[in-house]
Amino acid sequence: MRHLIDIKDLSLEEIQELIKTAKDIIANPNKYCEKCKYKKLATLFFEPSTRTRLSFEAAMMELGGNVLGFSEANSSSTAKGESVSDTIRVVGCYSDIIAMRHPKEGAPLVASLKSTVPIINAGDGGHNHPTQTLTDLLTISIEKQRLDNLTIGLCGDLKFGRTVHSLITAMSRYKNIKFVLISPDELKIPEYVKEEILEKNNIEYVETTDIEEHISELDILYMTRVQKERFFNEEDYLRLKDYYILNKEKIKNAKKDLCIMHPLPRVNEISTEVDDDPRACYFKQARYGKYIRMALILKLLEIK
Ligand code: NCD
Repeated sequence: MRHLIDIKDLSLEEIQELIKTAKDIIANPNKYCEKCKYKKLATLFFEPSTRTRLSFEAAMMELGGNVLGFSEANSSSTAKGESVSDTIRVVGCYSDIIAMRHPKEGAPLVASLKSTVPIINAGDGGHNHPTQTLTDLLTISIEKQRLDNLTIGLCGDLKFGRTVHSLITAMSRYKNIKFVLISPDELKIPEYVKEEILEKNNIEYVETTDIEEHISELDILYMTRVQKERFFNEEDYLRLKDYYILNKEKIKNAKKDLCIMHPLPRVNEISTEVDDDPRACYFKQARYGKYIRMALILKLLEIK
């Protein structure tokens, strides 16, 4: 039985296969509409979510399966003191696959050790978010037609932004990738990501606080929200939350085929005036998330 806890749980060949399946689903949705008949997906969300949970649920429905679950910890037995491991053991009796989001780093890994059904990490604290990364890879593959030879700017909360950590891990396995890491000093990428991913794999990167300094070099600009829920004090959040606001002026020197991404939700970090720019890909990105999750469900349930 396979789980998806970390993006590295998938080989590059497997990621390629998932992207291929997702593209086939986009082209031929009818072929897939009964693939998961009589199967159930449980979504256990101990933290807020819109896109991830609903795209998982829509994905299972479009495969002809059913969904059950909860969207806040307080409506489950967690409120009575039940452990994650016990919850997972029980939910495995009622479902064939589980997508789980938890504020504690490592909770989905712990869950997977006790689970009788595949576990998908739908975000664990400030750590990882592998299915957002699959979404991002599908987006890049469709919008740029390649996953190598890219200069990728990551901007915003690189410290707490789990989508950034998983994306760096994934992209570091492709050829000729360069990163421009744009953040306030307090929200720089964690040392472990630098040491264990970037430096270990000899990946070229620069760190800067200035979004305009490298904008003309970028093929992808991945904006992120300052992760309010991970701050210890509100003052710091208020001081940093509007540090970057991407607007038309700031992208005037960017490449014509720049791909502007954002895992969403957006707060203020991209001005709505950018939404009409043909380079804005973030709403398409959200749409692609459903298709790659369909492909992932099929893979983990071993359905051809
Ligand atoms: C992201 C997350 O939950 O980490 N959202 C998402 O899943 N699309 C990004 C965020 O919350 O800022």
